[in-house]
Amino acid sequence: MPKVVSIASPKGGCGKSTLTALIASELAALGKTVLVIDADPQASTTLWQRQCLQNEVPLPNMDFVQVVDPAELGRRILSDVVHDVIIIDNQGVANERMSVAIRNSDIILVPSHPIVIDLVEAAKVVNLARALDAKGPPTPVRVVMNGYETFDKRSPAFIEAIEFIRQNKLPMAATVLKQRMFYKNLMAGRTLSALPSKSPNLHEARWDVHDLISEVQTILNVQLIANAA
Ligand SMILES: Nc1ncnc2c1ncn2[C@@H]1O[C@H](COP(=O)(O)OP(=O)(O)OP(=O)(O)O)[C@@H](O)[C@H]1O
Ligand SMILES: [Mg+2]
Repeated sequence: MPKVVSIASPKGGCGKSTLTALIASELAALGKTVLVIDADPQASTTLWQRQCLQNEVPLPNMDFVQVVDPAELGRRILSDVVHDVIIIDNQGVANERMSVAIRNSDIILVPSHPIVIDLVEAAKVVNLARALDAKGPPTPVRVVMNGYETFDKRSPAFIEAIEFIRQNKLPMAATVLKQRMFYKNLMAGRTLSALPSKSPNLHEARWDVHDLISEVQTILNVQLIANAA
């Protein structure tokens, strides 16, 4: 059975599709078979796939499907016996579809900028996962800071954000997603492995993504990449 990773937050533009593309393409580049489910009618991930094809950027080991009907989403997840990993890119809305994705996931990653308006939405996912799990074992959730390094750590907004995390006991991933210009280019039909190897900070970016995958595999107690603990 595949391991199912949901990327979710009701906050629009917090980095869900970017994180989906990064994790999915890096897992695939490491030899895992990945099904990407685009559960967003906006279809950013589907567009990313099409633009990769147009740019002749290879997407080996990856399959894509767009599913917006909640019941169909549940069926797709549960009937898959082919892939190692399913990554679900959710819409930036808390709806029935997101609940189905969360209920059927092994882990939920919630991208969020370190600002209270994003973190309030991240907390909704954490609480929803806890509520849906009320009768069973808790599904792990990790909030992935997006652009942490770009914020002034002495600004009131940042201090309030850290206080919000503390008060709400938000489960934070150790790995952060840095702001990188080529993550923007990624969504225009690229993958990290298709970028020229001399691109500045490319290796660092790949290590970041591998660190996050390592965190996921440690939490799930599965082997996704070879060099992880
Ligand atoms: N770490 C990052 N570095 C550079 N650009 C980023 C980063 N994270 C997100 N972006 C950019 O911010 C915009 C929104 O990101 P993205 O589409 O991943 O968010 P989303 O949560 O999927 O949005 P939506 O809710 O609309 O689906 C995109 O233009 C993306 O390229
Ligand atoms: Mg998106």
